[in-house]
Amino acid sequence: MDIKRFSLSIFISFFFFGSCTNDDNIQTLTENSLDYCISQTKRTLVELQSSETGVIDYTMMPRNIMDSLSTWHCRKASKEEWCAGFWPGILWYGYEYSKDENILEHAKQFTKSLEFLSNIPAYDHDLGFLVFCSYGNGYRLTNNPEYKDVILRTADTLATLYNPNVGTLLSWPRECEPRNWPHNTIMDNMINLEMLFWAAKNGENKALYDIAITHADKTMECHFRGDYTSYHVAVYDTITGDLIKGVTHQGYDDSSMWARGQAWAIYGYTVVYRETKDPKYLDFVQKVTDVFISKLPDDKIPYWDFNDPNIPNSPRDASAAAIVASALIELSDYVPNKQSSIYLNTAKEMLYALSSDKYSCGDDKPAFLNHSTGHMPAGSEIDASIIYADYYFIEALLRLKEKI
Ligand code: GLY
Repeated sequence: MDIKRFSLSIFISFFFFGSCTNDDNIQTLTENSLDYCISQTKRTLVELQSSETGVIDYTMMPRNIMDSLSTWHCRKASKEEWCAGFWPGILWYGYEYSKDENILEHAKQFTKSLEFLSNIPAYDHDLGFLVFCSYGNGYRLTNNPEYKDVILRTADTLATLYNPNVGTLLSWPRECEPRNWPHNTIMDNMINLEMLFWAAKNGENKALYDIAITHADKTMECHFRGDYTSYHVAVYDTITGDLIKGVTHQGYDDSSMWARGQAWAIYGYTVVYRETKDPKYLDFVQKVTDVFISKLPDDKIPYWDFNDPNIPNSPRDASAAAIVASALIELSDYVPNKQSSIYLNTAKEMLYALSSDKYSCGDDKPAFLNHSTGHMPAGSEIDASIIYADYYFIEALLRLKEKI
């Protein structure tokens, strides 16, 4: 089926069948969407070949396609490029679904370009995104002991950012002085805890578990408002550990709910509950999730910030929907029946919407999804295809496939 007809079939199925609880319908749509991801992945692999030599530079990672463009803007894998692990992660997921040996070979090669991160000091907190999306998925699928070593070394490196006075990992060492944010922790950092939990379980350094828990607890205490919406950045005193202020960096303002920040919170606390089975995290993640779901627009794809006064004329963030859809599919396993249906159906509605003509790139571009917003206040990656949206989209589809 060509891509345009595929999108049309998704739309017709959604429109006519409507009910997201029809299992046959969901299975077909999930498999069609996964097939679409594989065909877009193959297009990207062709695009990444040098037109002169046919060779791929495995250090150059697809990052975004701006609205007016149709080919990937790639960035060199480096300690500063926080998104460099998502493309290898997409290839691992693509291999997991398709069993295509060619995709596997590319997954290995792109993953290898990130090994250096396990041998240098921490630049910032993004090591979990970088190494667990790439090497983490690689190890899950291959059991390659070299991959395990890279993950364990990187987890130890990430832990060097931990300040015991505060009880959290420092997210951005580079921002301490210029912004007078002496110890800053951003909500996104919750995602990096998964690698610490994994390393504590699979390696010798059991203290990593305590660091992850302390980080989650302090974040729970200081990083949320009374209504369970989150600040993007919590600024702490490095000595007393007291919260100085909650502010934004990528959101609309200091008191707004930045969509992707809240998405990271939902995903992060779902993982913390998975790893601890402590009911306090389950209770908490439901509150953080419910405020997000209660404020979604009709198609379930959030605007980039829930408090942007320009809504409905402001950009969406498809990436936040993809992250939350993936988390909700997992979370639906942990909560009682009624809540479980709400979470699972919301995830399905998000994935249906993301698979529609409005959000999927189709023939126009080799990415999976349109309409993500990276850093609105900086005027960067607005209404674009961004690699992490695609990563969480394919992850969510695979999780849904496992459930039906
Ligand atoms: N971690 C940066 C972001 O979510 O844009």
